[in-house]
Amino acid sequence: MNDTILVTGATGTVGSQVVKKLAEIGANVRAAVRSTSKAEKLSGVEVVEFDLNKPETVQSAFTGIDKLFLATPLVANMVELDATSLEAAKKAGVKHIVRLSVMGADGEPANPLCKLHREVEKMIESSGLAYTILRPNSFYQNYITFTGGTIKSQNAFYLPLGDAKLSLVDTRDIAAVAAAALTEEGHEGKTYLVTGSEALDNKQIADIFSSVLGRTIQYVDVPEDAAREGMKEAGMPEPEMNLVLGLYADQKAGKYSNVSPVVEQITGKKPISFDQFAKDYAEAFK
Ligand SMILES: NC(=O)c1ccc[n+]([C@@H]2O[C@H](COP(=O)([O-])OP(=O)(O)OC[C@H]3O[C@@H](n4cnc5c(N)ncnc54)[C@H](OP(=O)(O)O)[C@@H]3O)[C@@H](O)[C@H]2O)c1
Repeated sequence: MNDTILVTGATGTVGSQVVKKLAEIGANVRAAVRSTSKAEKLSGVEVVEFDLNKPETVQSAFTGIDKLFLATPLVANMVELDATSLEAAKKAGVKHIVRLSVMGADGEPANPLCKLHREVEKMIESSGLAYTILRPNSFYQNYITFTGGTIKSQNAFYLPLGDAKLSLVDTRDIAAVAAAALTEEGHEGKTYLVTGSEALDNKQIADIFSSVLGRTIQYVDVPEDAAREGMKEAGMPEPEMNLVLGLYADQKAGKYSNVSPVVEQITGKKPISFDQFAKDYAEAFK
């Protein structure tokens, strides 16, 4: 396992877990970070500067790498950013790309976020490079990133998702699938739907939080307008807000409840349950 694997988005929710998993199994990891000041949590691996808005950092980050884990921030110009990474990957002679896409990217008609991811997938599929596409459902860890604040301050979380069931997934499981695809044979040309082992609605999720945290946590189903207002207040730019709201609308309509066997098939372990996630990250909600 002497291949050097570049992980983009290495300070992000999924990328940081991919770095950790690859380091654990002894792979040669290069973590690509925008700001080296954020890199201290990535101890024990090579760190390089990588900012897609600074072209001079891109090619140097890619020089000498063999494989690529490509995670792109949720931004409206995602296709443009990934075109830059793909060009750099071709120049560097990358042997295999594993890209973080999204569940539903193959849907017709798809929501705008899925359409963007599908555009990137097509670019990768026609690049001539070996690839594996991961299409995860929404992450358990979103309950920390997006709703952790109100769970802590109000014992409640607000989402425009009605009583839709969702086969959410732990980013640690996505990372385990990514690490296998990057270091084992047989994943080239494959597209994997990555979900947890059951579909839960947000009332069930609130009940799990209540039981694990030992206090009542309430799920408040809000209309789309209220969700939009909340995101605006949190500083999310309008184009990205529209991407998230489009996804939420499809989730509310019940299109994100399919359960996939991929995590267990590839890692040999059952997906992490929401209950286990809540226990492992309980401190984040206190
Ligand atoms: N959240 C979900 O439930 C979900 C589900 C399925 C798919 N996805 C997809 O997952 C992707 C996001 O992954 P994530 O949630 O792991 O990421 P994240 O936690 O949002 O972090 C984004 C990462 O990208 C880096 N980044 C931002 N701008 C950059 C730039 N200009 N150049 C280089 N790096 C840059 C960030 O660096 P800094 O730390 O310096 O900001 C960070 O490492 C999106 O494409 C999204 O559509 C998300």
